[in-house]
Amino acid sequence: MGKKIFLVVLCLATVLDLHLANAEVPAVFILGDSTADTGTNNFLPDSKDRADFPPYGIDFPHSRPTGRFSNGLNSADFLAELMGFKRSPLPFFYLVNNTKFIKRPSFRGANFASAGSGILNITGQTKNGLKNVVPLEEQIGQFSSIYSELVAIKGQASAEVFLSKSLFFISVGSNDIFAYYLSRSTVPKQEFIATLGFIYDSYLRTLYKLGARKFGIISVPPIGCCPALRIQNTTGGCLEDLNNLALEFHSMINTQLIKLSTDYSDMKYSLGNAYEMTINVLDNPCPFGFKNVSNPCCGDERTPCGPNATFCSNRREYLFWDSVHPTQAAAGLAARTLYGGELRFVSPINFKQLADA
Ligand SMILES: *[C@@H]1O[C@H](CO)[C@@H](O)[C@H](O)[C@H]1NC(C)=O
Ligand SMILES: *[C@@H]1O[C@H](CO)[C@@H](O)[C@H](O)[C@H]1NC(C)=O
Ligand SMILES: *[C@@H]1O[C@H](CO)[C@@H](O)[C@H](O)[C@H]1NC(C)=O
Ligand SMILES: *[C@@H]1O[C@H](CO)[C@@H](O)[C@H](O)[C@H]1NC(C)=O
Ligand SMILES: *[C@@H]1O[C@H](CO)[C@@H](O)[C@H](O)[C@H]1NC(C)=O
Repeated sequence: MGKKIFLVVLCLATVLDLHLANAEVPAVFILGDSTADTGTNNFLPDSKDRADFPPYGIDFPHSRPTGRFSNGLNSADFLAELMGFKRSPLPFFYLVNNTKFIKRPSFRGANFASAGSGILNITGQTKNGLKNVVPLEEQIGQFSSIYSELVAIKGQASAEVFLSKSLFFISVGSNDIFAYYLSRSTVPKQEFIATLGFIYDSYLRTLYKLGARKFGIISVPPIGCCPALRIQNTTGGCLEDLNNLALEFHSMINTQLIKLSTDYSDMKYSLGNAYEMTINVLDNPCPFGFKNVSNPCCGDERTPCGPNATFCSNRREYLFWDSVHPTQAAAGLAARTLYGGELRFVSPINFKQLADA
């Protein structure tokens, strides 16, 4: 008898919890690069930055390759789940010709993230002129079409309320830094980072003008520690120059966000320190269940991850799935840290507090 009552109460609590989560955050909009791409590049027929073939998706339901650069889910999926959503927001390219999804009361956001893209328009584009990625600026243009759609459906005032409670997650910057580093550019690094900051800031202001109020920003991880870069170091260690650029990117974006939230008093943000989060795991992998944090599970120096590559079976123990992207296990850990992490990893508030704010 007692047990029955307990169960009923527990179920009720779960229902209420989900209901509250959804009421707090009506929608999630995700922008950025491969860390958050859930299939955008599949819609670009000429894109070379794709993951819509096995063994990508080996741990996804039905072992289906979806375009995610992971053995399973990525951080965007886990964040949507933590926010109480039943499914990860669909790629914009899927919604654009199925506008009935946007018109439904159950509309829960969209994913614009495109693997290989960056803050700069040229980042990730190929020289042949064919469309390889969707740059951040174009992603914001796509969001603006959803904004117009929402205004048309709900009216200006309701659309604004809806968007002001929604979350905007942005994970970008790594590809710009890779491109800068690999091109051996003569532009001094302070100048380069400042340029990225200037442009990023203008994009955040555009999003604000389109109704965004809650920003969850994810900075650049220690990209010099990716297996693809470590092989360029004779000791197998991380590439310090790349990691320093990542650190500078974080302090730049931190400064920009402080300024932005002073200019717009109703703007709220949470900055995930991807650098600190990743270094923390690299330094001490065991407590997180990782045993291999320097080699990819799938592929090696000669064979990139794909149908011809071999891949590990103990995927839960690897930090890297391919030579640049995290495993599902690593993506899940990152999302949980962003959601509930302490100040060292996410500041001035974490993503849960951002949702509740
Ligand atoms: C959407 O439909 C238009 C018109 O039919 C087409 O040109 C475009 O390629 C479609 N977009 C996507 C992403 O499928
Ligand atoms: C970036 O590309 C978009 C078109 O996709 C264009 O409207 C915009 O002016 C470009 N931005 C810069 C800074 O060149
Ligand atoms: C290579 O890794 C070592 C640590 O193993 C580090 O001290 C060194 O600075 C790295 N080299 C470069 C070029 O980053
Ligand atoms: C990590 O994985 C690689 C490739 O799967 C393997 O060669 C290496 O020995 C592993 N390292 C550790 C510390 O387990
Ligand atoms: C896989 O290997 C086969 C035979 O060597 C080759 O023809 C094919 O292009 C390779 N596929 C990829 C994606 O590298």
